[in-house]
Amino acid sequence: MDMQHSVEKPRNLNLLARGGSNDRSLIGDKHPFAFILAPNRYAMPNDTLVSLDLPGLIKLRSGKVREVFDLGETLLFVATDRLSAFDVILPDPIPDKGAILNQISAFWFERIQLAPNHFVTADFARFPTELQPFQAQLAGRSMIVRKTKPLPVECVVRGYLAGSGWKDYQATGGVCGHELPSGLQLASELPEPIFTPSTKNEAGHDLNIDWAQCCAMIGEPGAEKVRALSLQIYRAGKEHAAACGIVVADTKFEFGLVGEELLLIDECLTPDSSRFWPADSYRPGQSPPSFDKQFVRDYLETLDWNKTPPGPRLPADVIEKTSAKYREAFRRLTEHEIA
Ligand SMILES: Nc1ncnc2c1ncn2[C@@H]1O[C@H](COP(=O)(O)OP(=O)(O)O)[C@@H](O)[C@H]1O
Ligand SMILES: [Mg+2]
Repeated sequence: MDMQHSVEKPRNLNLLARGGSNDRSLIGDKHPFAFILAPNRYAMPNDTLVSLDLPGLIKLRSGKVREVFDLGETLLFVATDRLSAFDVILPDPIPDKGAILNQISAFWFERIQLAPNHFVTADFARFPTELQPFQAQLAGRSMIVRKTKPLPVECVVRGYLAGSGWKDYQATGGVCGHELPSGLQLASELPEPIFTPSTKNEAGHDLNIDWAQCCAMIGEPGAEKVRALSLQIYRAGKEHAAACGIVVADTKFEFGLVGEELLLIDECLTPDSSRFWPADSYRPGQSPPSFDKQFVRDYLETLDWNKTPPGPRLPADVIEKTSAKYREAFRRLTEHEIA
């Protein structure tokens, strides 16, 4: 597929397309995204949020960032303003972060046409009646998704050498069993994006698995399918982000089943599920700054902190600069200001 022609920036296509996100008539099957007149902006919450309980609703889990509530056949995903660095949740919330993460995922889910996904709505006005009393806590930072049975693998796609991939390459000359040409540098683009699945590990770090293990866990046809979809969605997302000045070095997708139906779930191409690098300062051989957490990491490195909980408080200027970075990622990707 020629991605140059299949990905355009939303500004260009917003004028053309109409209808809901399932209206394929205007875009044809070849296009990875439908740049429909989707509501890119939802009202922003005023206050920061670090955790949430909703009276009368069952909270299924509280992750590093999100709170998940059970609505029966659907789930309510609420993105808080928590920030984790070095896998420790820090005590200070980052203003707007939750809403931005939520709305970046919504942006992709409303447009990606390569696979059906779990997204129902991020428009608070369309949330179920039982949630309407909670507008102050939910509007802007939450979405309703279809409840699935998540596959037990994390579908990691890497387009550049970074993190554990770089360490693996230095040790073995490849990444997760994928052979690679010699002479690549830190942050080099790979000849082709590679699929490097891992297990979902509740406690601690995910473990990389090889292709045979992936097939053993979810069956070969399923493995083939999620590999193909992950690579396609990554390529399409990378292409769009590149046009917006963001390098998507790698990312993680999850898939889930509703009966036989395979859906893209969880979050999608966010700064939390991906490595975003600013394209303008990207240089192979140099460690690229993380798009969002660089100020926090830089600050934490100046402290005498052993990277175990509890995390330290952050100075106001680090909080503000980090919040600004999230807003910038949103603005670049969607070409909208966060409202
Ligand atoms: N549509 C869905 N149906 C069922 N489970 C889902 C769906 N989307 C995501 N999940 C699961 O919800 C959980 C989200 O929690 P987690 O990722 O720990 O939160 P956080 O991202 O805040 O750390 C993951 O285990 C993910 O597999
Ligand atoms: Mg997660």
